Amino acid sequence: MPCNCCEITDNAFTEAEARSELKSYRKRGPAEQTKLILTAIRSLNLKNADLLDIGGGIGTIHHELLKDVVRTATHVDASSAYLKEAKEEAVRRGHSDRVNFIHADFTDVAPELPKVDLVTLDRVVCCYPDFRGLLKSAADHSKSAIALTYPRETWYMRFGLRVINFFQGLRKDPFRVFLHPVAEMDSLLKKEGFERVSLRRLLVWEMALYQKSGGAA
Ligand SMILES: C[S@@+](CC[C@H](N)C(=O)[O-])C[C@H]1O[C@@H](n2cnc3c(N)ncnc32)[C@H](O)[C@@H]1O
Repeated sequence: MPCNCCEITDNAFTEAEARSELKSYRKRGPAEQTKLILTAIRSLNLKNADLLDIGGGIGTIHHELLKDVVRTATHVDASSAYLKEAKEEAVRRGHSDRVNFIHADFTDVAPELPKVDLVTLDRVVCCYPDFRGLLKSAADHSKSAIALTYPRETWYMRFGLRVINFFQGLRKDPFRVFLHPVAEMDSLLKKEGFERVSLRRLLVWEMALYQKSGGAA
């Protein structure tokens, strides 16, 4: 699907938002939905894994997993503001030499990137119209597991996202949030050879962990 998503997403996430998220992470640690991903991945008991974090924002997932599970990380993000904060934090934590930062729409650069053990998409599919293309590319890059969070398919999320998009339209801002069909995301990942091994819910977010079928991660 042709899409100027990188440009749209770059404008959607400002430096002020990115700075404020980093400030909150330094003060309070990972957000609740991110903790679900971290716990799910740690339950796989991997060591020295290579991670691809798509739309990693300020980089919370690799900042955390580089402590124990992950050896190297690739952080692909369409937002230059988020990448800037993620890089600064990686330098501050002394692990910037283990993270490859790429400013791009993942679906554009995916063919150039190698397969890794783990792929994460924390609150990313909801920012992207073509969830099928995004998840297919993500699945193609994972040897072992994929963990993602997305908005829950409930009446209040449908309503809330409609309200957000209504105001985005009023502001003439082309960025939209999407509530993609969970059953379709699930069946796509199953077709790509993954099985869902964990599903956790918060009020707003759902977290699903997929493992490659027939092989231990
Ligand atoms: C709501 S933020 C979430 C950031 C972070 N994962 C978190 O949960 O704090 C969505 C992120 O996904 C990125 N993004 C969305 N679609 C993308 C794509 N196709 N390729 C790369 N990054 C993408 C945005 O630039 C943004 O950094």
